[in-house]
Amino acid sequence: MDLQRENERLSQILNLEVELFQVKDLDILLERILSGARLFAKADAGSIYTKEKDVLHFKYTQNDTLQRRLEFGKKLIYSTFSIPINTRSIAGYVAFKSKIVNIEDAYKISQDRLYSFDNKFDKLSGYTTKSMLTLPLETSRNKLIGVLQLINAMDDNHEVISFSHEEEPFIKHFAISAANALERAQMTRAILLRMIKMIELHDPNETGAHVNRVGAYAAEIYETWALKRGIAPDEVNRQKDVLRMASMLHDIGKIAITDRILKKPAKLSDEEYFEMKLHTVLGAKVFEDTWSDFDEAAYEIALNHHEKWDGKGYPGHINPFTGEKDPRFLDHCGHTRGKQEEEIPLFARIVSVADVYDALSSKRSYKDPWPEEKVLNLIKEDSGKHFDPTVVEAFLSCIDVLRNIYHRYTD
Ligand SMILES: [Fe+2]
Ligand SMILES: [Fe+2]
Repeated sequence: MDLQRENERLSQILNLEVELFQVKDLDILLERILSGARLFAKADAGSIYTKEKDVLHFKYTQNDTLQRRLEFGKKLIYSTFSIPINTRSIAGYVAFKSKIVNIEDAYKISQDRLYSFDNKFDKLSGYTTKSMLTLPLETSRNKLIGVLQLINAMDDNHEVISFSHEEEPFIKHFAISAANALERAQMTRAILLRMIKMIELHDPNETGAHVNRVGAYAAEIYETWALKRGIAPDEVNRQKDVLRMASMLHDIGKIAITDRILKKPAKLSDEEYFEMKLHTVLGAKVFEDTWSDFDEAAYEIALNHHEKWDGKGYPGHINPFTGEKDPRFLDHCGHTRGKQEEEIPLFARIVSVADVYDALSSKRSYKDPWPEEKVLNLIKEDSGKHFDPTVVEAFLSCIDVLRNIYHRYTD
């Protein structure tokens, strides 16, 4: 490789690495790592596995060829699975030996290799895997976080070629940055989930799986909603990152509501219901000293996730810090009226659909999961009443992805 080309490639990889450090959420980071690596190596497809205890968990995948077979705006549906860290599979071998493996043709791996290619995915999807570059995601302190696998390098004529051996050092460098960023995002996710655990001690319905699903649904609905409106992809990515995490804390205020009310098996009295509704304002108070985009989004979501499009929700126009009613929005009885339509921040309008969808679709202490048809009918009926119609529209158009998310996070 000549010096000029080497410099170009180096600056390309450094730019991709800088981008990774702007992402905070784990799911969004997986997306960004894979698209960055694929862009650099001109790979048609790829996957990321993360190490969980002593197995590799297939976490995320992209595939341009299969993507092109889908309708515009639709996403690939995939299932997650685990494989052992041993020398039998390619990803397992890479994790076990902590070595990069560059394969020219997955169907012509020599017999003397310890690993072999599993063609189950090709058979199911009609895809043909040929060249593969698989490398460990190890932090700069040599901690294995996962495995990155790039599939089918493409030349300019759209023909599959081998991954260049010459360029391996660049991609290895990227993998270290990716692993460092992943380690940090995993830690952030773990802290959020620990906060949820504290709420769960109080309210058994607010589980880690529930909030992970609500976060992932909200990010997906937002992306569909925003791309339809021509919002620039960079802005969509930035907002999605914030929303994915902030929506997990929608019910954080429940930590301040007494067990007597949260766990009451019977219907709440008027006073008890009044107290219960305060979880919105109390939750917002947690983010009182707003200083980042994340705090601001978490504040808006906690405060407004029970507002309704038609103005019949709560807590309405009150100041969460002082409890004072905003005199501009009093109804004829002197009560604050609920916020309505676009007075409710977009993120809260989205989380409200995501939260109700998940609550109805899941088993709760007081009910069995509803069949999907019944859930969707209710959400459609409530479009324009409880929910923002444009959000319901986005929700319905990404329902297959939401279903897929449901199976990714189970209680
Ligand atoms: Fe709530
Ligand atoms: Fe919830």
